Amino acid sequence: MARKLRRMAILTGGGDAPGMNAVIRAVVKKAILEYGVTVTGIEDGYDGLVKGRYRRIAYDDVSGILTLGGTILGTSNTANPYRYPVQSRSKLEFKDMSRVTLRNIEKLDIDCLVCIGGDGTLGIANRLSKEGVPVVGIPKTIDNDLRGTDITFGFDSAVCIATEGIDRLHTTAQSHHRVMIVEVMGRNAGWIALHSGIAGGGDIVLIPEIPYDVGIVADKVQERNKKGRRFSIVVVAEGARPRDGKVVIQRIVKKSTDPIRLGGIGFVLGAQIEKITSIETRAVVMGHLQRGGSPTPFDRVLATRLGTQAVDMVQNKEFGHMVGVKGDSLVRVPLEEVAKGPRTVPLNHPLIQAARAVGTCFGD
Ligand code: F6P
Repeated sequence: MARKLRRMAILTGGGDAPGMNAVIRAVVKKAILEYGVTVTGIEDGYDGLVKGRYRRIAYDDVSGILTLGGTILGTSNTANPYRYPVQSRSKLEFKDMSRVTLRNIEKLDIDCLVCIGGDGTLGIANRLSKEGVPVVGIPKTIDNDLRGTDITFGFDSAVCIATEGIDRLHTTAQSHHRVMIVEVMGRNAGWIALHSGIAGGGDIVLIPEIPYDVGIVADKVQERNKKGRRFSIVVVAEGARPRDGKVVIQRIVKKSTDPIRLGGIGFVLGAQIEKITSIETRAVVMGHLQRGGSPTPFDRVLATRLGTQAVDMVQNKEFGHMVGVKGDSLVRVPLEEVAKGPRTVPLNHPLIQAARAVGTCFGD
């Protein structure tokens, strides 16, 4: 007879996203209520596994966290057991801490490790899985750029926040006859810009997948002005870049496996538009506001579906897999597939066509 599920551990990795706590709650409640499992929470993502920092999570610990932003477990987007940053005096070194990590996992005596995260976290989960760790993944990222799933939790909340930002900036754009630029997150994928741009009625939407021509962007602004629409809203993804140019890098986080932090394209573009059109142009960077606060009802529901399904996958020993969304269904996706790299917006995506159909300019 198959051994019953007794003990599992859970960690949240990468950037925080609205819905992380809702997933933790779903996993822990179902694991305890349905299977009587003991759950250990790993602190600060993989950092806790490297350093052996974890704590028992009881049912009461997850009561009342459904609507709470962030993660009660803490997270890290720099702690990679296979390339662990160690700062000594002025020197930063990277060490392979995977043996220590595997020993710590062994000490936990768990039937499964549930990893909640984006491509970085789930890429590491895939490597651990290949080393024999029973792992189940849950897709998280505001960027929505994960392979194997139509949607990740956190994305809807980020789109709602970005859309609210665009809605509010319309007021100043209209009243002062300005161009207002809203820079949104998303790394090298344009999902947040595309969705919030459509939802907020952006006149110009610039995404990494479609390199733009600033002349075409300026023409669109001037054309609107001639028609009496004396303002324009530009939604630009942080990873957008001009046809012959580069992305704008905000900072390099040396400790990170993925060290480039994008940001600032809005200001660069704003200066260019103002110079060409002589229309006052201002830029606002939505930044981490998009990751903060309470998840939307959609994300709470999604987080609950994903979390509870993940527990069933643990029970069925469907290790080495992530729970993904395909249409209305939840599916099992090999972590190997998820680890292949980010999922960007396909150029023939119906939303690009829909946006173009209502006159949105993509700068191409
Ligand atoms: O992946 C989520 C995300 O918010 C990206 O959209 C953004 O580029 C990055 O993380 C920012 O990371 P950090 O919080 O380290 O600045």
